[in-house]
Amino acid sequence: MSPAKKALITGITGQDGSYLAEQLLDLGYEVHGLVRRVALEMPEHRTERIAHLLDRITLHPASMESYPSIFHLISRHEFDECYHLAAQSFVAESFRDGFSTMNININGTHYMLAALRELRPKCRFYFAGSSEMFGKVRETPQRETTPFYPRSPYGISKVAGFELTRNYREAYDMYCVSGILFNHEGPRRGFEFVTRKISATVARIKLGLATELRLGNLDAQRDWGHAKDYTRAMHLMMQYPEADDYVVASGESHSVRDFCERAFGEVGLDYEKYVKVDERFYRPAEVDQLVGDSTKIRKQLGWQPEYTFEQLVKEMVQADLESIEKSRQ
Ligand code: GDD
Repeated sequence: MSPAKKALITGITGQDGSYLAEQLLDLGYEVHGLVRRVALEMPEHRTERIAHLLDRITLHPASMESYPSIFHLISRHEFDECYHLAAQSFVAESFRDGFSTMNININGTHYMLAALRELRPKCRFYFAGSSEMFGKVRETPQRETTPFYPRSPYGISKVAGFELTRNYREAYDMYCVSGILFNHEGPRRGFEFVTRKISATVARIKLGLATELRLGNLDAQRDWGHAKDYTRAMHLMMQYPEADDYVVASGESHSVRDFCERAFGEVGLDYEKYVKVDERFYRPAEVDQLVGDSTKIRKQLGWQPEYTFEQLVKEMVQADLESIEKSRQ
């Protein structure tokens, strides 16, 4: 029997990192995670999403802002695959502090690539690209060949990370892939993102703990899928003999308003009675509509999402209702 493959996941404590870690463990991988030291110091808060995996994975403290810490970690383990998911991933925050976003997202990616090149040039590398790179879209639907037009410091940082990844692939003959993932959600999504903000508030309103939901632009349209389907796509890409870039998307676009209507409808309420538009949640520059064409990954790698939009919304609302009810017992 061949030895288990060793994977390193940066950002393992996040939504995607936690689903990917589960999937890789199920496939027999030895899973390692790079985490900030504070996550190890406050595990009850920072490692909540992977609490059920802690005895099966190995966590290493390091910082995306420190090349020596990344170099040290990579020098000590013979990783076969590296999934680089760590990032400042909240678009609105990137307008508030573009410098930190750029530093973590661009330099962090560069440090990972440079350390792998130096120490483990055969290790496969996955970069978490984003549909935010398409920004003010140049064509619809967006595919691998669609030009980028980012609309936020976050989007700009992801374009830079994407280009760095491609450049390492071409310049140093390393196996480097980028997944251009459209929005992907689920019950483990952070509360700052619109889908979870909606599902959590719907549950609170239903249970009498809140009376309204304040949101920004209700007309923005996104192509929303389930994070579990998208982390499966990450792993698939890394198994193909040649490194390439792939769009991962459902191909359906829905507005924030549609999401609200469906989420409130799930508990028998009319969203119009509870949703209030609040200027504070508008962005200085908005991405109006995203919808992806994922033909390439479907045809080449046989990827298919299992969740529909309707199932995604239902699962998120039900999970938030259950979690509040449990916390009350
Ligand atoms: N977060 C948030 N909060 N968004 C709101 C709100 C609100 O109160 N009201 C309206 N929106 C709108 C935003 O303006 C945006 O158009 C849309 O809802 C989605 O916002 P987010 O859920 O914050 O996600 P995002 O599309 O900006 O970015 C996410 O998807 C990218 C992939 O396209 C993030 O996960 C990124 O990290 C990811 O790369």
